[in-house]
Amino acid sequence: MPNLFSPLKIKNIELKNRIVVSPMCQYSSEDGFANDWHLVHLGSRAVGGASLIIFEATAVSPEGRITPDDLGIWKAEHVEGIKRITSFIEAHGTVPGVQLGHAGRKASHRSPWKGGTAITEEEDGWQTVAPSAIPFIESEPKPLELDAEGIQKVIADFKAAAKRSLEAGFKVIELHAAHGYLLHEFYSPLSNQRTDNYGGSFENRIRLLLEVIESVQEVWPVEYPLLVRISATDWTEGGWTGEDSVALANVLKDKGVDLIDCSTGGNVPHAKIPVGPGYQVEFAESIKKETGMPTGAVGMITSPEQAEDIITTGKADLVLLAREFLREPYFPLKAAQELNHDITWPLQYERAKPRR
Ligand SMILES: Cc1cc2nc3c(=O)[nH]c(=O)nc-3n(C[C@H](O)[C@H](O)[C@H](O)COP(=O)(O)O)c2cc1C
Repeated sequence: MPNLFSPLKIKNIELKNRIVVSPMCQYSSEDGFANDWHLVHLGSRAVGGASLIIFEATAVSPEGRITPDDLGIWKAEHVEGIKRITSFIEAHGTVPGVQLGHAGRKASHRSPWKGGTAITEEEDGWQTVAPSAIPFIESEPKPLELDAEGIQKVIADFKAAAKRSLEAGFKVIELHAAHGYLLHEFYSPLSNQRTDNYGGSFENRIRLLLEVIESVQEVWPVEYPLLVRISATDWTEGGWTGEDSVALANVLKDKGVDLIDCSTGGNVPHAKIPVGPGYQVEFAESIKKETGMPTGAVGMITSPEQAEDIITTGKADLVLLAREFLREPYFPLKAAQELNHDITWPLQYERAKPRR
């Protein structure tokens, strides 16, 4: 059997293979609600054979949305629409996971196809918040530096969102601590210039992430996986580094986090990122090798052979695919065929299954 199709048990949850749908914003919600788009989009990828589908960055508060069109889970009313989708996904043998996020200083922007620019408060945007009053792009409105009360609200919002995630049928939570959003903004020295106990030293900068993890763990069952997506490097001098990520992984391991999903970048606009096939895999590999923490690799993983190689050589425990899954919702079914492995197809599609 190809290693890509070996099951993986994390806590009490069994993934049938190593191929995961990476979280992808759809900018298709109104007031944070899930709708038919999400059902069809995510449902097709369950039919396509992914072992785990991580829903897009799902806002823990209205002010934590990147755009007004983001999916959210900040109120009880959001649960029902999501539950319909998680139930469908699970019925097709795929584990439903959610990425809980707060966009910090990158909130209050237009969706990409509406221009992607900042929406000012006068234009129905909202005041953004961040560790320090430094905007992502100089010309954009300044975020408000979170005070102690604001920080407590963020922690409470993640906790309430985790509780609702359970009600909504999710079996995996991934905390979004990457791509220049709030939790990353706190641990990166490029965006955090605080002088209180949430800024300065490494220990202080990772404090908010740790407090969010602790608050989520108060309501999230121990038998369900808790993952954290990080930006393993800022690709910028004076920023967060691969070594910092290894140090963080050691701390997260002690905290009971189950896997680190290793992305990079996103916290400063001018970073030079050496984009290419599998360009972030090295971070999943070094964190796994140096800490023993299970990892997920993401970023330009597009072929079954490449994915199989990452798992077989022990560079990561999971591969997460984003754009390739937009091109090919049935990637796992096709990958099995290419790797000459027999997997179960949805009964409704059986007649189209290639015979070996
Ligand atoms: C349409 C789209 C939306 C995305 N939204 C998110 C998101 O909500 N959360 C996140 O962590 N990454 C997001 N990403 C990044 C992907 O999860 C992934 O890390 C990145 O695209 C690299 O993987 P790929 O080369 O397989 O596309 C998004 C990417 C795309 C293409």
